[in-house]
Amino acid sequence: QKQAEKSVRDSITLFLDWPNKGVGFQDISNLFLSYENFSNVLDYYEYRFNDADLVVGLEARGFILGTAFAQRMKLPMMMIRKKGKLPGPCFRESYKKEYGSDEFEVQEKALSKVVAKPGKKFHVIIMDDILATGGTMAASIELTKKVLLNNDIKDFKISTSLISSIKALNGKEKIYEKYNDVSVDIIIEM
Ligand code: PRP
Ligand code: MG
Repeated sequence: QKQAEKSVRDSITLFLDWPNKGVGFQDISNLFLSYENFSNVLDYYEYRFNDADLVVGLEARGFILGTAFAQRMKLPMMMIRKKGKLPGPCFRESYKKEYGSDEFEVQEKALSKVVAKPGKKFHVIIMDDILATGGTMAASIELTKKVLLNNDIKDFKISTSLISSIKALNGKEKIYEKYNDVSVDIIIEM
């Protein structure tokens, strides 16, 4: 945990007034550019989410985190994408975020080839880089639940994982208020 915290701290660059005035953008590009730092974060995930069954990656940086973690754990990785990018029938959810609104989609049959182990609660880890207002994550929780149920996985647990958060926007509190059964893990809150 300490190693991961340091690696994240050393990798975040703050851009003020980007993309809009008043927004402080936490850029984690340098995390991916350091094999060592990224690897420390994956070590932490491995320890923290050792019983995971499925990883969900949120476009765009959640794809990088989610894929790296899923490959390390030999797990399936499901994509949640911005609208209009995925073919076939999709569930869609619109949401508000710190600087605007957006729509997310997931393929209705995304999990048709994923088999849940009988007798074990199916543990899903939703991964993204930054938690700001929590709008993006709340929409992703809704979509994940829909896909799970649509693919007949009823006994599940959802955990969310973020590199960092903007504490003043209370994203974590908002998620806990809305979903008392979802956990929120943030490496550093700033
Ligand atoms: C950023 C960030 C999170 C989201 C957090 O993504 O990567 O996904 O905003 O904001 P929220 O908690 O207020 O919803 P962005 O929508 O900018 O898109 P990108 O990841 O595709 O670059
Ligand atoms: Mg994002």
